[in-house]
Amino acid sequence: MISLDAIHQGKILIVDDLEANVKLLDKMLRNVGYVSVASTMNPLEVCKLHIKNDYDLILLDLNMPEMDGFAVMDGLKEIEGDNYLPVLVITAQPDHKIRALTAGAKDFIGKPFEMAEVLARVRNLLEVRLLQKELNDSKNVAESANQAKSQFLANMSHELRTPLNAIIGYSEILAEDAADAGNKESVSDLEKIRAAGRHLLDLINDILDLSKIEAGKMELSAEVFSVTDMIDEVVATMQPAVEKNQNSLEVDCDAAVGEMHSDPQKLRQILYNLLSNAAKFTEAGRIVLGVTRPGQDGEATLEFSVRDSGIGIDSVQLARLFQPFMQADSTTTRNFGGTGLGLAISLRMAELLGGKLQVQSDPGKGSVFTLLLPAQVPDSVEQTVSVVEAKSA
Ligand SMILES: Nc1ncnc2c1ncn2[C@@H]1O[C@H](COP(=O)(O)OP(=O)(O)OP(=O)(O)O)[C@@H](O)[C@H]1O
Ligand SMILES: [Mg+2]
Repeated sequence: MISLDAIHQGKILIVDDLEANVKLLDKMLRNVGYVSVASTMNPLEVCKLHIKNDYDLILLDLNMPEMDGFAVMDGLKEIEGDNYLPVLVITAQPDHKIRALTAGAKDFIGKPFEMAEVLARVRNLLEVRLLQKELNDSKNVAESANQAKSQFLANMSHELRTPLNAIIGYSEILAEDAADAGNKESVSDLEKIRAAGRHLLDLINDILDLSKIEAGKMELSAEVFSVTDMIDEVVATMQPAVEKNQNSLEVDCDAAVGEMHSDPQKLRQILYNLLSNAAKFTEAGRIVLGVTRPGQDGEATLEFSVRDSGIGIDSVQLARLFQPFMQADSTTTRNFGGTGLGLAISLRMAELLGGKLQVQSDPGKGSVFTLLLPAQVPDSVEQTVSVVEAKSA
């Protein structure tokens, strides 16, 4: 709620070409406690004054010789853009009511006016204006806090990776030494340290990726590459994960998919995430990775799909699937591992590449994730994200 005291501090501008009207309104407002009341009889200077003083309410006459109130409102709209237009029209032309309200005035009073009505409307409009300002301020605070959080996470993740790499590296060296010395028990313990370190490193890398994307610091490294070569690589890497749960992986790739100009690293990462999910949430089932260039748009879009015959996803879960740290339920981590970052990152990366990530699922029967990507990273993306043109190896 906005206090009456705060409302009385609201900045008001009276615009009327008749001095008597200006004086009357000014006196009326000051008498009930408004402290910041300015006025002008020159409509041509309203915009300049508003830019300087950012008024909370402008009481605007319509019929003025130098410039009519509608033209003043047009000027104010240009200043405010999509923001709230703090204008109350007070005019002797009641037939202009609808036109004034349609033009963006927040309220309308005909002359001659009743004092009590003007005061009540002024108070209501100021309350809305001040609430809207509070909302904007809270939004800005929340946005900058979110930005600071992403920056903090990005810095922390970076600091954590260096010692973690040392732990992983040294545990590997020690495991080799222990193997040479025939010390089996130590080898197994050191393997556990290494595996835990790798897991932690994957998690930190995911957090780093997500915070980079949220802070708008993720770079694209675009290059021309062969889609089939990239798919072969992805399949070879994912084969062990697929076989772990006795699944089979089939590739259904149009021979004519050809080349694309995009960021292969990011595309690979999305496909790894989708395939690792399919492998994780399917047992003794079938996973199909499909690639086509569908549609009539000059084959400018590539469609990658990952279909599985696994546990599926119910509608409640589907609705929040792409939120960070979101897993089906609290037993997911225990049963399947993971942290719930894979899809959040994949969706944001797909959008970064100018594409979309969609999902369809039938609980108990399986899921299909479809990634639609432009064959050429669009110019609009290249303008908003810093794109580093990479050279093909
Ligand atoms: N193919 C799938 N079949 C069934 N459920 C899925 C599938 N893909 C994702 N899910 C559900 O969506 C959740 C979020 O997936 P996401 O990839 O973001 O996280 P995760 O795999 O649990 O962990 P991470 O990817 O960070 O290791 C999963 O925990 C799972 O509940
Ligand atoms: Mg995952």
